Amino acid sequence: MSAITGTKSSKPAADSSSDLAARLLDWYRQNRRSLPWRTTSDPYAVWVAEIMLQQTRVETVIPYYQRWMERFPTLQHLAQADEQQVLKAWEGLGYYSRARSLQRAARLIVEQHQGQIPSRMEALMRLPGIGRYTAAAIASIAFGQDEPALDGNLRRVVTRLFDISLPARSPEGEAQILAHLRAHLPPGQAGDFNQALMDLGATICTPRKPACGQCPLAEWCQARTLGVQEKRPVLIRRPPAPLITVTAAVIRREGRVLLTRRPANGLLGGLWEFPGGKQESGESLPECLRREIREELGVEIEVNAPLGVYRHAYTHFKVKLHAFSCTLLHGEPHPHQADDLAWAALDELNSFPMGKIDRQIAADLLKLDRSLFPTG
Ligand code: ADE
Repeated sequence: MSAITGTKSSKPAADSSSDLAARLLDWYRQNRRSLPWRTTSDPYAVWVAEIMLQQTRVETVIPYYQRWMERFPTLQHLAQADEQQVLKAWEGLGYYSRARSLQRAARLIVEQHQGQIPSRMEALMRLPGIGRYTAAAIASIAFGQDEPALDGNLRRVVTRLFDISLPARSPEGEAQILAHLRAHLPPGQAGDFNQALMDLGATICTPRKPACGQCPLAEWCQARTLGVQEKRPVLIRRPPAPLITVTAAVIRREGRVLLTRRPANGLLGGLWEFPGGKQESGESLPECLRREIREELGVEIEVNAPLGVYRHAYTHFKVKLHAFSCTLLHGEPHPHQADDLAWAALDELNSFPMGKIDRQIAADLLKLDRSLFPTG
């Protein structure tokens, strides 16, 4: 039996692994997407791009990547930067622990690796925020090592090419996919091989309605032969994301609004927000907000007019947030359950790094202010 088990035995029209890789690389040379991180093999640039590209579309990443490389052009710049500046540069990309881990890893590389990004998978994977995929992408693209970088695109292409019917994200499914990739990986060209498969997955071997007629690998594709390409990869169904209801207070004083900074670790860690929190069962929205503000800041508030309802979907849950205009009744706020607090003038709000919902509230406050006090 071959080292790669579980594949259908129908023999592809072309059967040499080097033929498949050669065809793929040939296609890539003529069709590769022109992307800003492909003009360099600087390991730092490759690493930044790969972290940004996790869970995020290429078109979204491009302007962030370009701004980032202007602001933090080297690992040393990133290591020395203020964390708030780093979060601000990341604002809007989501999954903020990626930015904090990137900076922590940059500092570790300066301290423990003389500022040189390690080239080997094992050392890369010991750094914060670098898993198997990212380590393989950096090792192959920046250092030319023969490592397959298994991301969503590669998973889809390979499960179709070899008609893998095991769930693609199960340990057994992953092992099969990796074995196929290793069997076809052209020595010394893993960076291009991986990126060719990423491009093929993004442009031709798409999740729905793949353009098999244009695929350079069509003659190898077992799922296409069997007509099951849209049934691959086999995915494990996730339970639906629960909805949580949250309140937030817009507390004004002398033309400023109160912001708090979320604890450094955890969801949206280090970002600023309008204080508030999760509704508990049996609680009205104003009761929830009064309790949250008492616990977080040690003060009593009056909850006044509703300002808006905001929604956002995170990976494992959805949020519906109700914002209210509030007045401080008595007490001076202290950040008991926050890392810091600030009274921000409206024209300073943009300089505080925030998540999507809080940025929307801030934008609405600015809009409201401009409509009430138009200038010029
Ligand atoms: N997605 C993740 N890494 C990528 C890369 N290097 N090129 C294109 N898409 C990607």
